[in-house]
Amino acid sequence: MKQYDLVLLPGDGIGPEIISAAMGVMHAAASRYGFSLSAEEKAIGGCALDQFSVPLPEETLERCKAADAVFMGAVGGPKWDAVPGPLRPEKGLLGIRKGLGLYANLRPAIIFPALKSASPLKESIIGDGLDILIVRELTGGIYFGDRGRSQTEAGIPVAYDTERYSASEIDRITRVAFDAARTRGDKKAVTVVDKANVLESSRLWRECTEHIAREYPDISCNYQYVDNAAMQLVKNPGQFDVILTSNMFGDILSDEAAEITGSIGMLPSASLGGGTLGLYEPAHGSAPDIAGKDIANPLATILSGAMLLRYSLKEYAAADAIEAAVTAVLDAGCRTADLAGDQTAAVGTREMGRLVEEALR
Ligand code: IPM
Ligand code: MG
Repeated sequence: MKQYDLVLLPGDGIGPEIISAAMGVMHAAASRYGFSLSAEEKAIGGCALDQFSVPLPEETLERCKAADAVFMGAVGGPKWDAVPGPLRPEKGLLGIRKGLGLYANLRPAIIFPALKSASPLKESIIGDGLDILIVRELTGGIYFGDRGRSQTEAGIPVAYDTERYSASEIDRITRVAFDAARTRGDKKAVTVVDKANVLESSRLWRECTEHIAREYPDISCNYQYVDNAAMQLVKNPGQFDVILTSNMFGDILSDEAAEITGSIGMLPSASLGGGTLGLYEPAHGSAPDIAGKDIANPLATILSGAMLLRYSLKEYAAADAIEAAVTAVLDAGCRTADLAGDQTAAVGTREMGRLVEEALR
């Protein structure tokens, strides 16, 4: 029997609960499809800071490098708000993305038919539904550019962060987006989102993406400024197929796209590099306000697990089965509190995980 080696990084806040619910589903999928998963937990984020005084212990990074895939919950929380920038829990996440070379972040925003009414958009705007893939550059741009502090001659504090991209960083993420557009529905379109009317880095993005687009005559390529794209997402989301964008614009637009699907608790993500090793995590945060209450929605994490099976382990049937099980559970009317209008009718984190497991079996 095939055995795969996973590293689990539950992290902070709701991280441990959602990872635990999702691992129940992963093991159920493994036993149904004839493989097994070993899972070793490592520390990252605030809990690593408490234990080891750093948000990403060297041992965590090294162990992840040796794994088949990394499955993460979330990091951060008010407990660490006063921690200085370089030691913040979020630094652990940025460090592992960079340390594993995971430059491509895939964030699919899909409206499940059963959740149409949970979307804040009118049915007339949603139309036939929504199926957008956000391809976010993950290891460059302003997140990793030079930053610092100084002061003016008058002693007034100054701070700066730098948006910086090389052509090779843009080229490789562009290929990921165009390759993805080829394997999706029949829209076959990439929308590059930038701010080329202002930013020099965006102008380089245009040059590079125009060049690469010529290698993909079957895929149409168009451009939108990020302010317009933010508006178009709520005005006419059906126009999008693949959205290709930089690290920070992708961060912002993926939260917006997530909310359109009904809840940020529904948006999974895969972070990939050159090989099969990937890191999979929900696109939402650690939600410290609801941590430990068994009310968080585990579906984004469960769907991230399906992406893990697809992209890192190549267990395509098991990945499809998890997505079908989530659809079935939603079709049957099961909702966590974030999705249920009437909170008393909602199921908890563990129960939602169990229902998906049951649907899978
Ligand atoms: C995300 C998160 C992270 C990001 C934070 C926690 C550093 O918002 O994955 O979208 O900005 O990338
Ligand atoms: Mg974000």
